Amino acid sequence: MIPVCKPWLPGNEKKYVDEALDTNWISSAGKFIDQFESGFAEFCGSKFGVSCSSGLGALHLATAALGLKKGDEVIVPTFTMAATINAIIFTGATPVFVDADKETWCMDAGKIIEKITKNTKAIMVVHVYGHMCDMDTIMEIAKDKGLKVIEDAAEAHGAELNGKKAGSIGDIGCFSFYANKIFTTGEGGMCVTNDSELADEMKKLRNHAFEVPRFIHKKVGFNYRLTNIQAAIGVAQVENAEKLVSARRSLGERYGKALKGLPLILPVELKGYKNVYWMYGVVLDDSVSKSKEEVMSELKEKGVDTRSFFIPMHKQPVYVDKTVENAPDCSGEYSIAEWLGEKGFYLPSSSDLTDEEIQKVAEALKQVLE
Ligand SMILES: Cc1ncc(COP(=O)(O)O)c(C=O)c1O
Repeated sequence: MIPVCKPWLPGNEKKYVDEALDTNWISSAGKFIDQFESGFAEFCGSKFGVSCSSGLGALHLATAALGLKKGDEVIVPTFTMAATINAIIFTGATPVFVDADKETWCMDAGKIIEKITKNTKAIMVVHVYGHMCDMDTIMEIAKDKGLKVIEDAAEAHGAELNGKKAGSIGDIGCFSFYANKIFTTGEGGMCVTNDSELADEMKKLRNHAFEVPRFIHKKVGFNYRLTNIQAAIGVAQVENAEKLVSARRSLGERYGKALKGLPLILPVELKGYKNVYWMYGVVLDDSVSKSKEEVMSELKEKGVDTRSFFIPMHKQPVYVDKTVENAPDCSGEYSIAEWLGEKGFYLPSSSDLTDEEIQKVAEALKQVLE
């Protein structure tokens, strides 16, 4: 079975983890934390990095540091995963959904304005599967309306728009380092920002909101600390940053060639953008009579593992059933997100996928779609 994704640790990961253990710096202090934060922030083109224990933690630190609260609204795509939405819900603010763009699968920037009200405080974009959103339009809207911008870049390490990296354009960029991410620390996350006050606030909030002197608290804090052991892996990953990103780009290029002519809609790379193909997604063409589930299950029989695209958030029982007071309104029409959810899935996308494996996937798809 070719798995959907396995972690890739091609450098000094083990050496640095051993060093963390040998020196007994196993918790959230230690040299690898600072090195990882400054190294990853620099890679992104941002001034400050605030590491934390997950992508969700990063998103929550961002929403909390921006002071979002009950009564506020945050514009967000419905085509994402639950962490994006929950990071807003945790603050008491209400997510407001926008449909996806048909080509990039990211939030449709042309549908944001109609969702803005007097309560809108921020836009949370998601760079889906490795392609960035239309940040030029989004930043223009945000500037015009006085809104904050959070980038959920969990799936887009190293992706670019006009030479600027994902995460570095909005007020705060948030990353996940879960094992299937382009950069991994096993579990982990990071916020990047150019704003020193936001960075300090997020550092405080991730550590129980300790003040100086310690054991004084003026805010409700969290424990979202990353360990020095995880950061050791991260430092080694950052050393190989270009290699990690180009491996995924090569995957995209090779799949693009191998799948040409099949009844599938393939990921795009619009002009000015650099897609990093976190996961190589495909959407079944309307000419395919089999359902996505049938195609995925037949591929599995042929030794090719796949995963479904997101089920859009406006379809999730947790929000539709209003299990929380500030659940988003799920009644709108989001036809592109629904189409993606119904017809889209992603193929094995490990960074070290071989040409033979790509050929095997392409051959299996050809047989299943015939
Ligand atoms: C778009 C997006 N946001 C947030 C997350 C959450 O990251 P984590 O699992 O590290 O909390 C993920 C994880 O896959 C994601 O894809």
